[in-house]
Amino acid sequence: MPDIALDAYCAAHQQRHVDELIEALRIPSISADPEYAAAVRRNAEHLAAAARKAGFPRAEIIETAGHPAVYAERLVDPSLPTALIYGHHDVQPVDPLEQWRSAPFEPEVRDGHLYARGAADDKGQVFMHLAAVESLLAVCGELPLNLKLIVEGEEESGSVHFEELVEREQDRLRADVLVVSDTAIVAPDIPSLCTGLRGLAGVEVHVQGPSLDLHSGRFGGAVANPIAALTEILASLHDAATRRVTVPGFYDEVREPSAEERRLYASVPYDDAEFRAEAGGVPATVGEAGWTVRERLWARPTLEFNGIWGGYSGPGGKTIIPASAGAKITCRLVPDQDPERIAGLVRDAVLAAAPPGVTVTADAKPGGRPVVTSIDHPAVLAASRAMADVFGRQPALTREGGSIPPVESFARLMGLPAVLVGLGLPDDQIHAPNEKMTLDMYFKGIRVLGRLWGELAVALAKP
Ligand code: BES
Ligand code: MN
Ligand code: MN
Repeated sequence: MPDIALDAYCAAHQQRHVDELIEALRIPSISADPEYAAAVRRNAEHLAAAARKAGFPRAEIIETAGHPAVYAERLVDPSLPTALIYGHHDVQPVDPLEQWRSAPFEPEVRDGHLYARGAADDKGQVFMHLAAVESLLAVCGELPLNLKLIVEGEEESGSVHFEELVEREQDRLRADVLVVSDTAIVAPDIPSLCTGLRGLAGVEVHVQGPSLDLHSGRFGGAVANPIAALTEILASLHDAATRRVTVPGFYDEVREPSAEERRLYASVPYDDAEFRAEAGGVPATVGEAGWTVRERLWARPTLEFNGIWGGYSGPGGKTIIPASAGAKITCRLVPDQDPERIAGLVRDAVLAAAPPGVTVTADAKPGGRPVVTSIDHPAVLAASRAMADVFGRQPALTREGGSIPPVESFARLMGLPAVLVGLGLPDDQIHAPNEKMTLDMYFKGIRVLGRLWGELAVALAKP
């Protein structure tokens, strides 16, 4: 029974598997900040070396017009199926730094959780794959299928050069299935497989008033205030009563979830108090009228304000009419919304809402398409068995409100079906201070992924 041997090997090597992840977490691979470009590259090289050590005979850097990706492969036999693992080695910025209990790039284990930027998103989950390959090779001597690994360095800044890489490297990347570990399960004792991700569309708004800050006594009452204009515009984008987005045409392409999908979502345990606690202790959940919280997160589009600036916010007061103000807007998209079309509609709505006396500009930002993966593909059922075996419970089928645009790119450009077998937890605080990976999930993840390849090899065996 190889699973028993696999589990025994994993148990014996837990500490080293954690130590290897910790080394990777020390590298500040923040893709959004050009200051860290050298660190992202160093991180890619470190990952390529780790992949070779884990058992990928070939592991190398693939250059892009932006940050480098890492490619590795272990080709066993052309008659066996081939799986492609996708992940990302870049991380989010760390601000606000003062809210971290331990420094973001000085990983620390506290109470069974490993704290560091990237612990769950996504270095921890990439290293689960490396540890699983190493363990399987140690126990079985060889993998039961061909395995390829592509780990990009720009996911957290929109994967802007990744489609170009996929197109260029189609031959090397060819596979029967895509496996991604960059999502979360419902709860520590409720395993789940993700079967859909939302897309993203962005618009940045700039409101220009006078060419310089003005004395608000000399000019207030006679000159339009850019902050007032901006907030008026932003407030017009939602209906106050229903919390629906008012942008004309916004919902035109939205595919409504079927009654069966709605039943599936309703069957996944949900606890409002727990969810509000995960959300940092908000007093209530709010959202589009007519939908449950899960539906709002998984199957409905949204429009959010991510940042706003303008005027004086330093200590004390400053009586001015500021010269300008601005805001960053992003929309989460669901099938069949198109990022470019939605960004265009939001831009039009922003410009149409501009009051007199200011100049408003709105620029579309790169986005990503939503993706839905199949719930009954043999590869998904294989992952389901691997999870059930480790957790002792059949995984729920969920979706995520977050976005991983490359999953859609692989489907559209290469026809690859995807299995989203992530082992984060809802309270991992990804993108926030004190991001963590729960070590029990890390160890379970290694065992799940160690089982996955055997299950997949059988499920996808060529006749
Ligand atoms: N791993 C996340 C996506 C995710 C978030 C999955 C939450 C499940 C739950 C990924 O790294 C991410 O943050 N994606 C960005 C994409 C964006 C920058 C294009 C996101 O969702 O904001
Ligand atoms: Mn991620
Ligand atoms: Mn992320």
